[in-house]
Amino acid sequence: MTQAAVPVSPSIRPAGTVGAQLKTSPAVLAAIDTIVKEAQAKSALITDVRPADPALKVSYDALMARAADVRGRGLLYPYIGSGIGNGALVELSDGSVKWDMICGIGVHYFGHSEPELIRESLLGSMDDTLKHGNLQSNMEAYEFAEVICAEARKSSRLKYAYVSTAGAMANENAVKVCYQKAAPGGTRVIAFKDCFMGRTVTMAQIGDTADYRQGIPLSTLVDYMPFWDAVAAERMGKKRFIDMCVDHLMQYIHRYPGQHACFIFELCQGEGGFNVGDRDYFKALMDVCKAHKIAIWDDEVQTFGRTNQMFAYQHFNLGEYVDVFCAGKLTQACVTMFTEEFNPKPGLLSGTFTGEGVSFRVGKKIIERLRDGNYYGENGMIAQHQAAFRAEMAKLIAKFPAHFTPVESLGGGGDRLVGGVGGMMRFTPFGGKKEKVAAFCKTAFEHGVVLFYCGHGPYHLRMLPPMGVMKLSDWPRVFACLEKAFAAVPA
Ligand SMILES: Cc1ncc(COP(=O)(O)O)c(C=O)c1O
Repeated sequence: MTQAAVPVSPSIRPAGTVGAQLKTSPAVLAAIDTIVKEAQAKSALITDVRPADPALKVSYDALMARAADVRGRGLLYPYIGSGIGNGALVELSDGSVKWDMICGIGVHYFGHSEPELIRESLLGSMDDTLKHGNLQSNMEAYEFAEVICAEARKSSRLKYAYVSTAGAMANENAVKVCYQKAAPGGTRVIAFKDCFMGRTVTMAQIGDTADYRQGIPLSTLVDYMPFWDAVAAERMGKKRFIDMCVDHLMQYIHRYPGQHACFIFELCQGEGGFNVGDRDYFKALMDVCKAHKIAIWDDEVQTFGRTNQMFAYQHFNLGEYVDVFCAGKLTQACVTMFTEEFNPKPGLLSGTFTGEGVSFRVGKKIIERLRDGNYYGENGMIAQHQAAFRAEMAKLIAKFPAHFTPVESLGGGGDRLVGGVGGMMRFTPFGGKKEKVAAFCKTAFEHGVVLFYCGHGPYHLRMLPPMGVMKLSDWPRVFACLEKAFAAVPA
């Protein structure tokens, strides 16, 4: 499905402006070169995991106390970066070095201190203003949008992009686009059990986590569908599972005729447990949506760039269905995309800040590198990393069988103890018990690996490694640390 190509302009500013003169000034370029080289030289000093420097303990404790003082509570992780790293390794302000396997929950796809991205940031940092907004933007905002539109137009009907500053905001814009299209009748939303969309008032209501909406008045009308469950499908037969769920969806449609504006699809659930969906299942539900004029809103804030294709909808070959789409995190600036048909009326989407020139420049470069690199496809780097992760997991489970007892019910995925897709990796020790899984994050941190948990029970450990810079040879080194961490805790 290819639409007319978007002309992606190679240069940011028309040559001849004073702005262009600044960006191409030999003095500026030489200075940037010097800074990038110095950053690279310092980054090269970071070569392996190391413990905290005892001499920095007092100052680090003071930093954490200051952070806790302004936040009103202590940090979940004692993580305060020093501002430098080397690929997947990051240095903290206590002098320790750790493998960053969570990357700010999926933001630092090219790891730490990546020279080309530092160069882009430095170029962007000279702009006349830091923030771009809907009323006044420099060209970077549109160039960022152009490059993602160009990719989306190759594989879907998505045509336009509106940029914003957070995944939750991108989703707010998406739901508004869906509501407006369905007006005046469509006021309800369909969502999957265990979904997560962000923490605005509306997204906290649609998201299926009770704790995240404690005390929030419920004003959004949401109907929940089961997510794909490979275990249940295997037990009862795939066709029966799908038919049962289609029937479930039809019940909502009959109960509230013409009242659903959209169905929000998170094709591989992030926060909900790295549960991987299934094409046949999604297609069956999407066919019903199409037949009933229910918009298909694809939230790829966490999945974008991480499955075996750039877009998760491509991974599932569902591009033709998507009406509204969101991406964020690794893109540095967030984006709401829509088809021609869903292009909203003027005034619906706007904002004082849509992002920063630095984020747009770095985001554009990241998407270009994903486009031009060897990441996707069956034998792409992402698939190779997933395979390397699984090979290391098999060894780890064999070494610590008592820590990896089978879990009764695992949502999605199908795999019992190891799951996820591409650059979204999960594993399930301690029978998926929350306290033990959460506590292990701290143990792993102490042994040099930053990771996090996900799921609603069973709970899993999850990794969002920096796929852009991770080497296959890094995996045994990461797992050597994890082995020490497992050896340090009872099963
Ligand atoms: C699928 C999904 N949607 C939306 C969001 C919200 O993004 P943000 O935290 O940038 O607002 C997240 C964040 O984790 C996410 O995973």
